[in-house]
Amino acid sequence: MDPTHHRVANHVGSAPVRPPVRPIGGGAVIGVARHLRLEVHRRSALLCLNKVAGKVFRIGHLGNLKELQLLGCLSDVEMVLKDVGYPNFRQLFLIPTTGTGAWESALTNTLSPGDRIVSFLIGQFSLLWIDQQQRLGFDVDVVESDWGHGADLAALERKLRNDTHRTIKAVAIVHNETATGVTNDLAAVRRLLDAYAHPALLLVDGVSSICALDFRMDEWGVDVALTGSQKALSMPTGMGIVCASPKALEASKTARSVRVFFDWKDYLKFYEMGTYWPYTPSIQLLYGLRTALDLIFEEGLDNVFKRHNRLGTATRFAVEAWGLKNCCQKEECFSDTVTAVVVPPYIDSAEIVKHAWKRYNLSLGLGLNKVAGKVFRIGHLGNLNELQLLGCLSGVEMVLKDVGYPVKLGSGVAAAAAYLSNYTPLIPSRI
Ligand SMILES: Cc1ncc(COP(=O)(O)O)c(C=O)c1O
Repeated sequence: MDPTHHRVANHVGSAPVRPPVRPIGGGAVIGVARHLRLEVHRRSALLCLNKVAGKVFRIGHLGNLKELQLLGCLSDVEMVLKDVGYPNFRQLFLIPTTGTGAWESALTNTLSPGDRIVSFLIGQFSLLWIDQQQRLGFDVDVVESDWGHGADLAALERKLRNDTHRTIKAVAIVHNETATGVTNDLAAVRRLLDAYAHPALLLVDGVSSICALDFRMDEWGVDVALTGSQKALSMPTGMGIVCASPKALEASKTARSVRVFFDWKDYLKFYEMGTYWPYTPSIQLLYGLRTALDLIFEEGLDNVFKRHNRLGTATRFAVEAWGLKNCCQKEECFSDTVTAVVVPPYIDSAEIVKHAWKRYNLSLGLGLNKVAGKVFRIGHLGNLNELQLLGCLSGVEMVLKDVGYPVKLGSGVAAAAAYLSNYTPLIPSRI
C-alpha cells in the first residue's frame, strides 16, 4: 500500500469542516483544486488509461534541482532507453509537454509551411493531429477510413505511385489509435515507402504504443517517434518524449516552421554545453521516467509486450462473452493497449462511463466524437496486471447490468480468467 495514500487520506479526513468556498473570479480553479483533492483521497480508483505506477508516483517527489544529480539522471535515462527499445536511437528530446506538444515538436522541427503531409484519419487522436497540422500551415492530404478500421494503405500506395515530383514531404500516422483501439501496421508503411524509394519522412505518434507494443524505430525506418509520459510509461502527465532519426535531424536544419519552445536546435546546443535543457526541465518527471524505465527494464521489454498482449486478448475474450462487439473491425489491427467496446443502440455508452466512475470508482474511457455514445473504452496499458484487469472487467459487468444490458455476471471475467490462467507465466524473480 502506498504510504502517501494513508498520509493524504488521513489529512483529508481530519480537516476541519469549512464553509463552502464561494467562487470569486478563480472559481474554476478552485473547483478543479477541490476535484483534485477528492482524487488524491480516492487514489485507489482503478484507472486503466492513465495509470501511474505507485513506485513512479513516490519517486517523482524526490527530485530537486541539484545539477549533478540531474545530469546523472539524464545519462542514466539515455542508457536505459537504449536498452529498452531504442538501441540505435540518435537523438532524444525530453520535453516538458504532453503528447500534443510532442506532435508539434515533430512537425515544426522537420517541415516548412506548405509542405505536403499524407496523414491518416482513423479516429479522434489522428483527427486532432491533423487539425494541428492544418493549423500549423501544412498542406495536409487526409486519408480517411471508417472509424474502427486501420490506415488505408492502398490509398497511400496510390499517392506514392503518383508522386513522381516527390511533393509528399512526410507521412504522419498514429500507431495505435486510442479512440477506437486500432493498431496500424508500421512495417507495411515502411515497405511501401521503400518500394517507391520515396524519401518522405515517417512521423509516428506512439503515445499509446511505445513501451507497450512492439515498436521498431530503426527497422521500420521511423524518422520521428513520439510519446507522452502518462500512457505506457505509467508516469504522471507532463513529459513529451520525442526521438529523431539522423534524417529527421538533417531535415530540421532547413525546416522553416516557426518554433521556439520546441526548437531542437536549442536542445542540441544545450546538450553540447552539457547543461541539457534550454529551460527548466521537470526534474520530478525525469526521476519518474528513470523509475518507470527501471520497472520496464526489470520486467524485460519483451515481457512487457507479452503482458500487454495477454491483457488485450483477455479483454477481447470478455467482450465476446458479454455478446458485445469490438469497435476495431479487423483482428490484425486489434489493439493490445485499449479496447473500444460497442454498446447496443438503446444504451448510451457515456452513461456506462459515468456510472462506472460514480458507483464503482472505475475509470473507463468515453467514446469520442463520431463514436460518442456508441463505445466505451477499456484501457489495458502500462502498470497493470492480470488481477487488476479482472477487477476492471468485473466492474464493467456490474455497470452493464446496472444500465440494463442483459449480461450474465461473471461471464466475461470467466472467459478472461480462463485465458489468463493458461497463459500467465510465473513471475521470473519468484521461480
Ligand atoms: C494516440 C494519442 N495521441 C496523442 C494524444 C494526446 O496526448 P496528450 O493528451 O498527452 O496531449 C493522446 C491522448 O490520449 C493519444 O491517445
